[in-house]
Amino acid sequence: MASVLVASNRGPVSYVLDEEGSLDTRRGGGGLVSGLSAISSKDSVWVCAALGAGDREAVRRGVGEPGVRMLDIDPDTYADAYNGIANSVLWFLHHHLYDVPREPVFDAEFRRRWEAYRRYNRAFAEALAAEADDGAAVLVQDYHLALVPGQLRELRPDLRIAHFTHTPWASPEYLRMLPDDIREELLRGMLGADQLGFHTEEWAAAFRGCAGADVEGTRVEVYPLGVDADELRALAHRPAVDEWLARLREEVGDRKTIVRVDRTELSKNILRGMLAYRELLTAHPEWRDRVVHLASAYPSRQDLESYRAYTAAVATLADEINTEFGTPDWQPVLVSVQDDFPRSLAAYRLADVALVNPVRDGMNLVAKEIPVVSEAGCALVLSTGAGAHEELKEDALTVNPFDVTETAEALHRALSMPPTERTDRTKRLAAAATSLPPQRWFLNQLEALRA
Ligand code: G6P
Repeated sequence: MASVLVASNRGPVSYVLDEEGSLDTRRGGGGLVSGLSAISSKDSVWVCAALGAGDREAVRRGVGEPGVRMLDIDPDTYADAYNGIANSVLWFLHHHLYDVPREPVFDAEFRRRWEAYRRYNRAFAEALAAEADDGAAVLVQDYHLALVPGQLRELRPDLRIAHFTHTPWASPEYLRMLPDDIREELLRGMLGADQLGFHTEEWAAAFRGCAGADVEGTRVEVYPLGVDADELRALAHRPAVDEWLARLREEVGDRKTIVRVDRTELSKNILRGMLAYRELLTAHPEWRDRVVHLASAYPSRQDLESYRAYTAAVATLADEINTEFGTPDWQPVLVSVQDDFPRSLAAYRLADVALVNPVRDGMNLVAKEIPVVSEAGCALVLSTGAGAHEELKEDALTVNPFDVTETAEALHRALSMPPTERTDRTKRLAAAATSLPPQRWFLNQLEALRA
């Protein structure tokens, strides 16, 4: 039994079955992991889903970490809920990603998947109800679990329930694409919470706009997650990062770097970022052979066809740019598909320019991390679509994510920025980025929920 409970689809650990049939443990990072470390693990439980075969095997064998409860949800139900609804419908709505002439299509198949989403949410609500002490605080995370607050409220009216959305929230007009009854169910699920959290005023306002007068009785608050400067700098100076830095330095030579690090994710706008880089090399040929674009774009959600196609398109465009401009000693774009945090941190340290240009993004912690660890100070090209824009806009070079020419010009300005200006801006960016570190972010929500 626990007095503080966290629920999220992806948990803090995962398991991989090796060839001999034994289980390797992988520990994840991220804001939630450091946030929860603010409280003692004796009083807390983290409820998450078994994501793959390794996790399911761990549940069956009773292997697990103290304070983590993994739910072995029927694989078909899980796939329909996670791929079919959370990532294909709710993610697309909140990020405004639909190619509207073709999608969305809300048919009988959608209804079948929605039922799976409901069952998957119910499995979480039941597990939380079973694990929570009287009056416990429950902090539910993200669009995967939007129905949990309402379901849990019915099972356990005594609990204090919060929900935090790490993505944007859809604008009212966009959310109206959903069938009426489903939209109402979604909003009612969220409004089962005492407290709803968002990263920015803009997303909170979008939610209020969708919920209308029904929002009475639920506090809608903004908690803009930041980064922990000391922790991040310590991580960025481990030997594995130093080794990567040496390798990257060798590849880049004395050229400048434009760095981006993303999951290969439709909303991250990697293609327009590369188009802008191509336009930079065309409009400002003086940068040829004097800059390298380090684009780390590691695979994500590859069960979805649109993500596979996007991943392939990123590789193709990078090849085209390399063919068009490359020389025997200069490769203009270096794409890395490795999800390797030490390598990303090395790229952060090396960054002269950071490119963060999502079409729409809940926060985007890369925009906050790079200024904290970059060695020579970096100029941040940041789109208005990133949640981080609300806090960083004064010292970033702001761009419209759809305007490739504006982005190309911002890259040029960023590369040309005088060193002192770059250093000054980076200091202010780092200060803004670290103003609400994960532990404080988490405790502020917990304290408000208990007040
Ligand atoms: C976003 C979501 C998270 C999610 C992450 C990675 O940041 O807000 O909830 O965990 O993307 O996506 P994945 O589908 O791999 O868990």
